[in-house]
Amino acid sequence: MNMDLCELSPSYVRSIAPYQPGKPISELAREMGLDEAGIIKLASNENPRGIGPRTRAAIEAAIGEVARYPDGNGFELKQALAKRYGIDIGAVVLGNGSNDVLELVALAFLGPGRAAVFSQHCFAVYPLATQARGARSIVVAAKEYGHDLEAMAKAIDDETYAVWIANPNNPTGTFVHGEGVEAFLRKVPERVMVVLDEAYNEYLAPELRADSVKWLKRHPNLVITRTFSKAYGLAGLRVGYALAHPSVADVMNRVRQPFNVNSLALVAATAALDDMEFVARSYAENLRGMKQLEEGARKLGLEHIPSFGNFITIRVGKAAEIYKRLLRRSVIVRPVGGGYGLPEHLRVTVGTSQENEKFLSALAASLKE
Ligand SMILES: Cc1ncc(COP(=O)(O)O)c(C=O)c1O
Repeated sequence: MNMDLCELSPSYVRSIAPYQPGKPISELAREMGLDEAGIIKLASNENPRGIGPRTRAAIEAAIGEVARYPDGNGFELKQALAKRYGIDIGAVVLGNGSNDVLELVALAFLGPGRAAVFSQHCFAVYPLATQARGARSIVVAAKEYGHDLEAMAKAIDDETYAVWIANPNNPTGTFVHGEGVEAFLRKVPERVMVVLDEAYNEYLAPELRADSVKWLKRHPNLVITRTFSKAYGLAGLRVGYALAHPSVADVMNRVRQPFNVNSLALVAATAALDDMEFVARSYAENLRGMKQLEEGARKLGLEHIPSFGNFITIRVGKAAEIYKRLLRRSVIVRPVGGGYGLPEHLRVTVGTSQENEKFLSALAASLKE
């Protein structure tokens, strides 16, 4: 066969650079002949506390049911979320991770001849989801590594149907205060979906947590996305959600796979949502771990971007090289050159205090090497 089958897909699909996930522990062990038990992974902003006992019990109780399809409407989880936020159940869309609901927005509202606005250094899925739909990307220069919402509002043109905003943002950890987001919403035409990705919301200090859900009433073009992958510790089960105007939720549900959230994820998320103590402890431990990493970086004479999430992005210089040296010391972090445009930085997830310690001493040794 002479034809490259890849050529059959539309050019906008072919030009997608695949998402680069954090390196799995098993892969590093295989590649470098290292002992899995000695490897630490601080590369995917997961919760180092694992899951709470109530969530574990809910998963165990549901294992016997995996031969059956899940509830395709996710009724119980949606009902719990609707109750938590005081909104209509029809305003909730569930996803296989919040990544899935981001894709649903792109599927429902983007396509060739349309455009989406996002920031330099934004979460990698925004350009991917935009490009996969054949839509045009409008990239706005970052301000102090974060979203410049004023410039983003100005960048909206007649073809723009979506704006992607991560608050806090990954990989920079930057945050825009509630008033800034509200002012932005007032400037955006109603035709444009504003996706406010709050994956790290639970890691914000209580005084910074804006009641974004209440903005939905005034701004029917707002789509809030959140996840159970971070503070709730369920990254491996894949479950997230969007809160949106019921007509927006309706169109997102039309393009959703019928059983996009699996049965264990549904019961686990419903149980985890109720376990406020687990989330509160995750928040408190993250705060301690963040201080440990900030101080550690400072002692090594390294700058970092002030972070509002469960990760910190540190300027190490030749980041690609330091990343490899850390791997040899059994520490996996995340390089953020390439698509993220931060070739001198490494993103490090806040781990347990022992993991943070191990990372800091491996970093010190890697810098000296
Ligand atoms: C800003 C942001 N949004 C969304 C996600 C997607 O997470 P998930 O699909 O696990 O909910 C991530 C994951 O790292 C993220 O950093």
